[in-house]
Amino acid sequence: MTAPTGATATQQVSIPAIVAGLNGRSLVFVGMMGSGKSAVGRLAANALGLPFCDADAEIEKSAGMSVAEIFQQFGEDEFRAGEKKVIARLLAGPQTVLALGGGAFIDGDTRRLVARQAVSIWLKADIAILMARTGRRPGKRPLLQTDDPKKTLLDLLEKREPHYARADLVVETSATTKARTRDKVLAALAGHFATAAVGGSH
Ligand code: S3P
Repeated sequence: MTAPTGATATQQVSIPAIVAGLNGRSLVFVGMMGSGKSAVGRLAANALGLPFCDADAEIEKSAGMSVAEIFQQFGEDEFRAGEKKVIARLLAGPQTVLALGGGAFIDGDTRRLVARQAVSIWLKADIAILMARTGRRPGKRPLLQTDDPKKTLLDLLEKREPHYARADLVVETSATTKARTRDKVLAALAGHFATAAVGGSH
């Protein structure tokens, strides 16, 4: 076992085996707003010795304004067009652990690009967790500025789950710690690459 920085004592995965399995490809986190993509992605990147990148932060850097401001001034369509470009650029760059905004994987071109160039993980969280986590910073997510954010989240979940389900791996996150979810992610990756090795494909 090779223990990453901050690993728990129970962690039994080989980090070099995961890095070898990735074989230079980026690791991409997808899932709903509030599912923990950025927080867990950062921890996973640290464990794997890879840089971390948040697609929304990159969009904000490129645009020189916040995601909320982009929505407000230009609308969602413009945001999606910019988001798609930034993600394509990031995926064409050096290997990274990349957290996508919740709507990015709904775009078919982005999904295909991720499938070709990266390994994807859907962080699957239930509505109670999504509500609790998105409720902490209500102004941050323009799509949830509605009279009934819970209904909005439920509607989005229903529409998006079939797309998220196309990710290579699914990791359920519950009300556990981010470190525990990171360990589940690492275990899922280790299992994925071990299976791929036995199956002789990947
Ligand atoms: C969005 C999610 C946000 C951000 C934008 C739209 C979505 O990112 O990209 O507000 O459509 O679900 P997070 O998932 O990081 O909150």
